[in-house]
Amino acid sequence: MAELPLQVVILAAGQGKRMHSNLPKVLHPVAGKALAQHVIDTARSLAPGKLVVVFGHGGEVVRSTLNSADISWAKQEPQLGTGHAVAQALPEISNVGQTLVLYGDVPLTKASSLKRLLHAGQDGLSILTVELANPTGYGRIVRDASGKVQRIVEEKDANAEEKAICEVNTGIMAIPSARLADWLGKLSNTNAQGEYYLTDIVALAVAEGVAVNTAQPDGEWEVLGVNSKVQLAELERVHQRNIADEMLIGGVRLADPNRIDVRGELSYGRDVAIDVGCVFEGKVELADAVDVGPYCVLKNVKIGAGTRIAAFCHFEDALIGPDGVLGPYARLRPGTELGPEVHIGNFVEVKNTKIAAQSKANHLAYIGDAEIGQRVNVGAGTITCNYDGANKHKTIIEDDVFIGSDTQLVAPVTVGRGATLGAGTTLTKNAPPDALTVSRARQITLNGWVRPVKQKK
Ligand code: UD1
Ligand code: CA
Repeated sequence: MAELPLQVVILAAGQGKRMHSNLPKVLHPVAGKALAQHVIDTARSLAPGKLVVVFGHGGEVVRSTLNSADISWAKQEPQLGTGHAVAQALPEISNVGQTLVLYGDVPLTKASSLKRLLHAGQDGLSILTVELANPTGYGRIVRDASGKVQRIVEEKDANAEEKAICEVNTGIMAIPSARLADWLGKLSNTNAQGEYYLTDIVALAVAEGVAVNTAQPDGEWEVLGVNSKVQLAELERVHQRNIADEMLIGGVRLADPNRIDVRGELSYGRDVAIDVGCVFEGKVELADAVDVGPYCVLKNVKIGAGTRIAAFCHFEDALIGPDGVLGPYARLRPGTELGPEVHIGNFVEVKNTKIAAQSKANHLAYIGDAEIGQRVNVGAGTITCNYDGANKHKTIIEDDVFIGSDTQLVAPVTVGRGATLGAGTTLTKNAPPDALTVSRARQITLNGWVRPVKQKK
């Protein structure tokens, strides 16, 4: 079917009183992304010629947060109903093709369902509807004996017979753009809520002999809106479960698909396994056979094939090579780059540091602003003293170095290839290659030394 030109209007003027929050409702996050941003992204995937967001009182922060070159903004103040809201977008809308109305607080509608709606009858008006076991609160779809849609009646205006109808208006509609201004101009607010209802354009279309069609989404969750934190939490779980199911279908082994949170873009190879309680943020790439232990937080990281991450790790803005052995309790901060087969163990913090192949820091260390060669062993308790209180300095540790436990490397400093630092060394000058450097006081023993005893008062 040929696509008609498409324009999209997203209604986002509602205040969302029931969120009990200073943040406008449509900016509350699902999967780390504002509700309205989900809607904008879905709308964009339909390649509309025009994308208009209607914002309201106090909504300047909505505009400044979501603003983008392809969005036109229309202010609605005061808010006199959904029909009035769409009317505010009219100056931005041209007479061509279809105008799709979406709600900024209904984040999970799939593009495929919207396409079905747009194709339901391109010459007419199309409504996305669902059958609900409990339709309370929604506008009902009133059909005649032959099943043709006649109008939509709002809950508050409905009689008992109409309230018994289970097919409801999701609010999402595709309207012939050429008819929009005329229909909106004919709306009145003589109804139970004293509002200009967008839904009343359905009866106007019928009266003019314009075809009214309906389409249904694949899942009821696609048209659920957010009015409270309860609904926000429910949609978060629905969305996360959908992501988890996609991952399972894609071959990822999830210890529990109900206990994973993906707040961004997660890509994965074959035979990836993820234990419970992990959070993925930003862009995360897991290559083949990566194994992520329980309760890890991974943000903007790329992990090479075969790397194993034990429990309770926190990685951010890091590049991790293949066959690494990381954690438990490892922290990789921005600018960390690990080569192949690197081991980073418990309570080791790494920041802005490159570590080459087969090097190990297995216990209790801080490594910042450093460059570490291959096959280096960083002993327990090693610290790069990278900060002098004013500036950061670099530590260079060349290939095959062995750093004894409890060593401080006072940067800037270089440890030459093959060097050994004795335990407890405070290194303030470069250590030459292939030699033992040690900087602690010589060990002595005092024979006959007696411990102090407590003095009697
Ligand atoms: C609306 C529909 C109803 C449908 C229901 C689905 C109308 C008259 N009714 O009812 O048939 O079943 O949605 O959830 O359209 N908004 C504005 N400006 C306004 C009013 C609303 O931007 O002046 C926005 C809200 O922020 C929200 C959306 O429009 O995103 C829907 O508004 P809401 O008040 O929730 O409509 P309902 O009464 O639930
Ligand atoms: Ca609503």
